[in-house]
Amino acid sequence: MPTTVDLLYGRHIEHRREEIDALLNELGFDALFIHSGRPRNRLFDDQHPPFRAHAPFVALVPLPFAIDALLEFRVGRRPRLWYCQPEDFWHLPPAEPAAWWADHFDIERVDSAQAWSSRFRSEGALAAIGQTQDLAGLGERVALNPERLLHGLAEARTCKTAWERECLARANRRAAAGHMAAADAFREGASELQIQLAYLRAVAQDQDEQPYRGIVALNEHAAVLHYQHREASPPPQSRSFLLDAGADEHGYASDITRTWTLPEYAEYAALVNEVDALQQRLCQALRPGVSFVDLHRQAHLGVAEILRQSGLVSMEPAEMVDSGVSAYFLPHGLGHFLGVQVHDVNGQVDADGHALPPPERYPFLRLTRALAPGNVVTVEPGLYFIPMLLERLRQSEFGRRIDWARIEALKPFGGIRIEDNVLVSEGDPVNLSRQAFAALS
Ligand code: GLY
Ligand code: MN
Ligand code: MN
Repeated sequence: MPTTVDLLYGRHIEHRREEIDALLNELGFDALFIHSGRPRNRLFDDQHPPFRAHAPFVALVPLPFAIDALLEFRVGRRPRLWYCQPEDFWHLPPAEPAAWWADHFDIERVDSAQAWSSRFRSEGALAAIGQTQDLAGLGERVALNPERLLHGLAEARTCKTAWERECLARANRRAAAGHMAAADAFREGASELQIQLAYLRAVAQDQDEQPYRGIVALNEHAAVLHYQHREASPPPQSRSFLLDAGADEHGYASDITRTWTLPEYAEYAALVNEVDALQQRLCQALRPGVSFVDLHRQAHLGVAEILRQSGLVSMEPAEMVDSGVSAYFLPHGLGHFLGVQVHDVNGQVDADGHALPPPERYPFLRLTRALAPGNVVTVEPGLYFIPMLLERLRQSEFGRRIDWARIEALKPFGGIRIEDNVLVSEGDPVNLSRQAFAALS
């Protein structure tokens, strides 16, 4: 009896196969090969960074750690998977293919990439996706990473199948459990490293399985947007905690941020609540046809309103946004596509592949499209007290409109970001992250 997972995955690969057939016909290719990748050692070293398979491969086969596997698509044919199981006493060879996914492929077991690398040399009209040095054996006639094909595959990934939505929902549930455990550890006065360990334990995944390096930031560190360290010792006093961390489910990512403080810091707690309320309003606005650039501006207006109401900045919200003052407090983009890549593909092109660059004022906005049903996006407004940017603001013509005494008092809290993963649908948006937290309580 097939389970939900079997059925959803089966429909997913069938749907993607039809899309790939159409692309191959349109572009005149007989076959498409997609390599899973191969680890690369660091320079003058025999160690490599944690390996993860290429995203175009993972988007089709739930094997995010497969090395030297090769997918082969031919129009009208069942896809074939060259599944590499090396004879190796140094490493545990890959597991036997599991029926729930393997039944959708003709599986060719091989013990090295040599088994597939040169066997297609004499064929014409081939396309391949992967790194040049890994696919050299396919011959010189193969089209490597052809742009229009890459665009077509990426475009398909912007609209999530039911299988992908299920994976993303599960990745959210895993991460939500981690966030709650991390918040407990913060309240107990743990260090950043201790909080990270509590997170991984609750998520039940090793760091190497995580979709990205989690940001575990106490106090001022929350003002560093991609803070990369984890202090082993707790600070003398923990005031605030920003955690941006996800989880993996069959190669699909969640990307959630929560910001916490303690009851004695009422002014900061009020700001956190305001950003949270703004974030939920923005999530509700995710509808088909809505421009994400417009939503990004709404986020700035919302942050500007918080700054005005709290008395930190004496300017009207529209003036704050139009003059660029709000960007000193919110220097990053509102969000991005999410999928097998945490910053998923085609956020800055339209469906035909035409570039949609971000507005000059918001160079870090990763998603500039109008939304469509099936998109899964992050919504992550923030409000930060970043010393470097505040210094520039102080020097600017708007410096005198700022309550610097109160800003100084808020700097030791770092900053606030609230981030959820949301599915755009024909009707109400589906907030996968809030659903995941609600299921825990
Ligand atoms: N975790 C990276 C981001 O939020 O985009
Ligand atoms: Mn994030
Ligand atoms: Mn994000």
